[in-house]
Amino acid sequence: MDIAMIDDQMLPMAELAEPYLDRGLYFGDGVYEVIRSYDGHLFAFNEHLARFDRSLREIQITGVDIESVRQKVLSAVDRAGYENAKIYFHITRCSEPRNHLPNEDMAPNFLMTVSELEDDPEAKQKGIAVSTHPDWRWKRCDIKSLNLLANVLARIEAQKIGAGEAILVDDDGMITEGAGSAFFAIDGKEKVVFTRPLGHEILPSITRKMVMQVARNAGISMVEKALTPHQAATSDEMFIAVTTKDIVPVVQFDGIEISSGKCGSITKRLMDEFQAFVRAKV
Ligand SMILES: Cc1ncc(COP(=O)(O)O)c(C=O)c1O
Repeated sequence: MDIAMIDDQMLPMAELAEPYLDRGLYFGDGVYEVIRSYDGHLFAFNEHLARFDRSLREIQITGVDIESVRQKVLSAVDRAGYENAKIYFHITRCSEPRNHLPNEDMAPNFLMTVSELEDDPEAKQKGIAVSTHPDWRWKRCDIKSLNLLANVLARIEAQKIGAGEAILVDDDGMITEGAGSAFFAIDGKEKVVFTRPLGHEILPSITRKMVMQVARNAGISMVEKALTPHQAATSDEMFIAVTTKDIVPVVQFDGIEISSGKCGSITKRLMDEFQAFVRAKV
């Protein structure tokens, strides 16, 4: 008889519940999204759904109706009833006995969670320290895949040295992005914000896209250019951006103080403009 064991419990393999056969568990074979709401309104919902659709296509998970995903999100958000919510969802290829090659006839699995987001603008404005780590991820970081082991390890290392985010550096010595955020550095004199150009090396972050729009609306130039850690460390200001926190100032980079250890003026302006942009959009 084929046997399975869950912790100390032994059972016939045939009785193993579906979640234990999920390809997401064995291979990270799936893609995900994180969306947030502000004051009861989902922000950049269409952009997130479009990126999710693209991620699904890039890993060849077919037969998912994005409109039904939209409806699932709307009904769960409505049921949770939070003003400010974080919505996580993923789709994995299917559940089946472990085999690298998938069985094409199986149905994808969907999982979603909705939880409350508590914003703390004052704490956020104090900024965070970041540290650099080698980018050990695979070569398709533009896909929002469930394979996040390299991100997790970089975050663990960053936390050990008191950093709130790991900034990843590729084999050519150039910064890609944060382990869970887009990365920006600012030349204060020229009023230019730098961020890495899109490509297979980074996630097409929705917040990055919105920050670029906000900056341009505010007359602040955006230049898509990869930076070395040295170039970043000698910049005037720095911040990271991610859906759940929008813009977070960086005040220390590999132990070097940035912007005298305070949120810089251009970063502060972008944070304020971003909030105004959010309120106008939702
Ligand atoms: C590696 C990585 N880059 C960037 C981001 C920011 O993406 P978004 O602005 O779409 O939340 C994330 C978010 O989770 C991420 O994991």
